[in-house]
Amino acid sequence: MLNEELQIEQKRATSVPREEIMRQWELMGQNRELLVRRMGYTPRAWVRTFGCQGNVADSEKIMGMLLDMGCVQATSEKEADIIIYNTCAIRENAEIRLLSTVGELKRLKAANPNIMIGLCGCMMQQEGIVMQIRRSYPFVELIFGTHVLHTLPKLINRLLSGERRVMDCYEGEGRENLIPEGLPIKRAQGNQASLQIMNGCDNFCSYCIVPYVRGREVSRKPDEIIREAKEILAMGYKEILLLGQNVNSYGKGLDEKITFAQLLERIEALKGDFRIRFMTSHPKDCTKELIDVIARSKKICHSIHLPVQSGSDRVLGQMNRHYTREHYLSLINYAREKMPDVTFTTDIIVGFPGETYKEFQQTIALCKQVRYQAMFTFIYSPRPGTRAATMPDPIDYKEKTKWLNELLAVQHQISEEDNKAAQGKLMRVLVEDKVQNKEGWMYGICENGMVVKFMAEGIQKGRFVDVKITKGMRSEYEGVLL
Ligand code: SAH
Ligand code: SF4
Ligand code: F3S
Repeated sequence: MLNEELQIEQKRATSVPREEIMRQWELMGQNRELLVRRMGYTPRAWVRTFGCQGNVADSEKIMGMLLDMGCVQATSEKEADIIIYNTCAIRENAEIRLLSTVGELKRLKAANPNIMIGLCGCMMQQEGIVMQIRRSYPFVELIFGTHVLHTLPKLINRLLSGERRVMDCYEGEGRENLIPEGLPIKRAQGNQASLQIMNGCDNFCSYCIVPYVRGREVSRKPDEIIREAKEILAMGYKEILLLGQNVNSYGKGLDEKITFAQLLERIEALKGDFRIRFMTSHPKDCTKELIDVIARSKKICHSIHLPVQSGSDRVLGQMNRHYTREHYLSLINYAREKMPDVTFTTDIIVGFPGETYKEFQQTIALCKQVRYQAMFTFIYSPRPGTRAATMPDPIDYKEKTKWLNELLAVQHQISEEDNKAAQGKLMRVLVEDKVQNKEGWMYGICENGMVVKFMAEGIQKGRFVDVKITKGMRSEYEGVLL
């Protein structure tokens, strides 16, 4: 697998050829009739998503295609006729959980042999896993990888034409990571819509499986992104979440010269009152130009997810992250200078192979220095085929759990203190929905991502309102509507 690292070259961004997408539209039409014939009634579809926002966005395309094939959205998995699990491979426990959940689908298939069960997503890009599923789960008829997601109509058509099992998984050789344009999308309800700006990852952080399962990094053409952003705003969404494994390297390999900061400026210029968020930002490619654009912007949230992973330079080097603690902190300081109200969130890996307790203490110290709004913490999980999986890892899991708890205690205290310090502040809030079991109360999301609850009889969802924070707790605020 490490050879893949050497093969990275300047790739041109490309999308799936238009004719291939047109062909899928034709097949969606054909499948409508065939599906009703197989089921005897309008089929109900259920897509369950594991993993990150990237997978959530893919699932919206899968559901979009299924609806176009005449399905309706099932209200529960039990009543569904087509069940698709979109899987994640980021940590071992994600895989273990998935396999046990798939095992439970056997009963549904036994009760109704007509139902169609499919697996897709990152786990299906690993040969060993696919073999295991083929052997142990004969009731899974459809298995496909992330690179062929747009061919779902063709794959279902093959099943409906009599093939017992259909598989199309990426096995790394000569298959390109192309972006499908023009597929139907069934977007989530609510205020926020995701917008994928790139696919894949070329960073090969030594612990991470993503570059292997998601393939090489490709940027989507800016005009396509702007077209989709306009569509999202026209549908009434109030927040656009730009997605990519490393949005800061957006634009590499495109014919048109454009940076992520410039793309943000183009989206910002679209008419309307809306928010822009993005994830994930890699600190090695985060530029001052980008921070300046965020600082100048009225629409980009002053809340940045900037995963640091570790506070130790030696560990960062072993992780292949390509930045130092000092560089990371200089970005934080620069952003705070330009935007006194900016907040940060992060990802931390605890117990990377060879990490010592002393090095872990450097992570704790960094967290105390930055004072994150929130953090996502993970105990290191070896991923077969990655470089870190071959490194000596003497600290046992129990000890790593202790370290993790120590970090969480530090973060909880910071959250409590900083959220309390927010009392009295005025926040611009996007109204989400009613608070359950609290008559007359609504909740919304602040620019920093925090939930705030407030009394607001009859106020419309999707509006921006000003709320004064009256109470700051560990994970939410209470406030009064102004
Ligand atoms: N592209 C993003 C991260 C995507 S994965 C970035 O570079 O920031 C989300 C998070 O999962 C990572 O930030 C990392 O903290 C965690 N992660 C990835 N691989 C892991 C592994 N093998 N074990 C534990 N955590 C891992
Ligand atoms: Fe994984 Fe690193 Fe790529 Fe993020 S940047 S997806 S952590 S390899
Ligand atoms: Fe998981 Fe794939 Fe995302 S491995 S975290 S779903 S890119």
